[in-house]
Amino acid sequence: MENKFAGKVAVVTGGSTGMGLATAKRFVEEGIDHVFITGRRREALDAAVAEIGKNVTAVEGDVANLADLDRLYDVVRKQNRKIDVLFANAGVSQPKPIAEVDEKFFDLHFDANVKGLYFTVQKALPLLNDGASVLLNGSIATTKGFPGISIYSATKAAVRSFARTLANELGNRRIRVNTLSPGHIDTPLLEQWQQGNALTKLKEEFAKNVPLGRMGTPDEIAKAASFLASDESSYINGVELFVDGGVAQI
Ligand SMILES: NC(=O)c1ccc[n+]([C@@H]2O[C@H](COP(=O)([O-])OP(=O)(O)OC[C@H]3O[C@@H](n4cnc5c(N)ncnc54)[C@H](OP(=O)(O)O)[C@@H]3O)[C@@H](O)[C@H]2O)c1
Repeated sequence: MENKFAGKVAVVTGGSTGMGLATAKRFVEEGIDHVFITGRRREALDAAVAEIGKNVTAVEGDVANLADLDRLYDVVRKQNRKIDVLFANAGVSQPKPIAEVDEKFFDLHFDANVKGLYFTVQKALPLLNDGASVLLNGSIATTKGFPGISIYSATKAAVRSFARTLANELGNRRIRVNTLSPGHIDTPLLEQWQQGNALTKLKEEFAKNVPLGRMGTPDEIAKAASFLASDESSYINGVELFVDGGVAQI
């Protein structure tokens, strides 16, 4: 079978756990030349590198810190690489009703999910090859009004908006920009929401809301990311692809 990622290089922010890790792993399994992953915790990055096994470089850093983003791209530059696929995936999500939200909570989400994601793309521009594919990790929360996640949902609506504008701005370089919007996916992120039995119950509730009757797996996001990252999706640009078992459609 032809290798759709032959000679290509990817950057996956937040590639140490969850869907970022699943995507980096799938890219390597599908023959990508090299993948750079990021995250704030060194031990999680080391574990991810061991799991991916080859053709991977981990760079520690916080996407909300612009100096860390510069360091990430310096590492790519020093390895004489250009970027064909950028998955701006790192993000945080915690629930809180409006009455309890304070400035710190607001900034935590907007700094990582909006500012961090935006500058992840902007600072990659000199390294992106013409014709590259940029994926932004959105959420079904871009279009839904789930109670308790007003701040998170607003950050993801901003992400969806970036894909529209940036697809237009970067079209002259044939760079495609798409939003991949996951539904309820079983990742460590949910440990920020609940723990123990309460987490098990939460997952059961999520599953009930899905037409397919179950949560999604990180690799189901990775499969969609692989499609959007490759030439298989060569005429798909500016869209929001929901990978959610149907939740956002009902
Ligand atoms: N799980 C879901 O149901 C769901 C649904 C829709 C959308 N999403 C989105 O999917 C993306 C990935 O989440 P996930 O569910 O796979 O969660 P996850 O397992 O918690 O993964 C998040 C990844 O991002 C990294 N990260 C978080 N904040 C960061 C920051 N400020 N700078 C750099 N790296 C950071 C984490 O590593 P460190 O903690 O070590 O930094 C980790 O590698 C997020 O954007 C999330 O909003 C998730």
